[in-house]
Amino acid sequence: MCGIVGCVSAENCYEKIFTALTRLEYRGYDSAGIAVLNADGVSVRKKKGYVSNLKGKPFAGDTGIGHTRWATHGKPSDANAHPHVCGKFALVHNGIVENYAALRAALVSEGETFFSETDSEVIVKLISRAYTGDFFSAVVQACGQLKGSYAIAVLCADYPREIVCARQGSPLIAGASRDALYVCSDVPALCGAAEYICPACDGEFFRIGEGEICFLDKAGRQIEKTFVRVAPENRAASVSAGTFMEKEIAEIPRALADTLESLQKTDFAPCARALRQAERIFAAACGTALNAAQAFKDAAESEARCPVFCFAASEFRYRDPLIGEKDLFVAVSQSGETADTLEAARLAKARGAYVLAVTNIAQSSLAALADFAIVMRAGPEIAVAATKSYNCQLLCLYYLTAQIKFYRVQEFPDWFCRLGELPAAAESAFGCFPQISVLAAKLKNERAMFYLGRGADVRTAAEGALKLREIAYIFAEGYAAGELKHGTLALVEDGFPVLAVSTSEKLAAKTENALAEAKARGAFTVILSQNERAISESCADFGCLLPALPEKLMPLVSVIPLQYFACRMCLLRGFDPDKPRNLAKSVTVE
Ligand code: G6P
Repeated sequence: MCGIVGCVSAENCYEKIFTALTRLEYRGYDSAGIAVLNADGVSVRKKKGYVSNLKGKPFAGDTGIGHTRWATHGKPSDANAHPHVCGKFALVHNGIVENYAALRAALVSEGETFFSETDSEVIVKLISRAYTGDFFSAVVQACGQLKGSYAIAVLCADYPREIVCARQGSPLIAGASRDALYVCSDVPALCGAAEYICPACDGEFFRIGEGEICFLDKAGRQIEKTFVRVAPENRAASVSAGTFMEKEIAEIPRALADTLESLQKTDFAPCARALRQAERIFAAACGTALNAAQAFKDAAESEARCPVFCFAASEFRYRDPLIGEKDLFVAVSQSGETADTLEAARLAKARGAYVLAVTNIAQSSLAALADFAIVMRAGPEIAVAATKSYNCQLLCLYYLTAQIKFYRVQEFPDWFCRLGELPAAAESAFGCFPQISVLAAKLKNERAMFYLGRGADVRTAAEGALKLREIAYIFAEGYAAGELKHGTLALVEDGFPVLAVSTSEKLAAKTENALAEAKARGAFTVILSQNERAISESCADFGCLLPALPEKLMPLVSVIPLQYFACRMCLLRGFDPDKPRNLAKSVTVE
């Protein structure tokens, strides 16, 4: 997704901006650009494709902005790449200007010529037209005409050491180090560069100038803000061999151990009232986090006997949901910046619900907005497809389930004291990998797959299928095993791969029946279970033995072979698991 960096430096800024852009590459993008202020005015280099295309003789100048673009309005091209320039101004923009068509039509009728198809170019045109010598006022005036979301950083040739920034609905952060002041849309961009950061709130502006960053409201009144040290979870991540996805799967045991340690130190007292008294619980999230939220629904309803309503965040926000002051809203987001999840949380808050966030980033917009944040300790997750953050989200949500139960009936679930076994069990799940590699080699040319499960295993099946779609580009569907015969079985023919996750003793026979039905129609069947009997006696053509754990905790590890399977399938098919086509790590637009 789009990324912004900007810098007012004591020395030439081009390399600093270039490096920061490379740190944003993991988010997914299709073009990149840099603009630097110097004696010639504004020098711009922007190109379709990788950030490395911006290599070349660095522009001289100590003040500049950079951008990675993920196309929304207009295809990936040099012209549509940011920065966009108009007269004395250069601008980078994240977000979507919803009224851009009307603004653009009005500007064209007034004689403006556009050089790109983007919504962003209207902003720089508006700034240029509003300018009468006061840079900040021109930006404020232009922003006043925009509908939608934006984070912008703007240069003006008349202000050689200044960047004016504005935020509305899209993250933007100020950063400072001894020799440079920064703006960025994501803290990882400044890893190893800025020591202190301060996120802007919606409606705020800031000027980065000679030795200072000044936060202002639209009337130009100064806003008091506090800079904090860059949090450890934002430390730079690197990979020496293999891919980030493989590295992140390998980190699951450590991530679970760190997250558990942090949960054990978390004081839940501030949210005790909401946990004890909430009449209903709502959970909303996107993508992988949505699968975690669904698993939370199952766990919390069964343990705490409280109704939990789970929504895709993009649906929740447009449903006029029946949520109110007596309810608890749980927002799950690795990045804490997913636009739909943030908007859903804002809506819940506006309706008076208590908002609890589960996120990997302590300084994210979601954590700032929430009444209470549970911050997992997965560490930086760079691969676009989430892996270790899913396991850690589940751990946080199960821990939360235990707290809800405790505050309601003064009792913890029986599995609560066994959470400490998770890191070792995750490590044991790695024992499946050689077999999973064999399975991937066998199935790598398949065009579709079904993943089945019952109860909690349905969520694992859904997450396994999502991984396969995301990075191996194979159509995969995960759903309830009992539903197979109600339609989908029609698609099963000779050799069609059907994989079942079966970790519940009570439901095992039922799941195996579904697999037998598929097998009878010629399917190639696979079973994942912690039960040796299921592996040897079921009709599965291929079995994978999972580590033994209390049944309720199985979803935290049974997904690991599926994460690895998707990664192997992707690699065997010749794709890069870290940068799947069309996808972005955190989707900060609607
Ligand atoms: C994008 C990513 C997914 C991720 C989802 C939610 O779609 O490609 O991997 O699960 O966003 O991200 P979040 O940061 O909110 O957990």
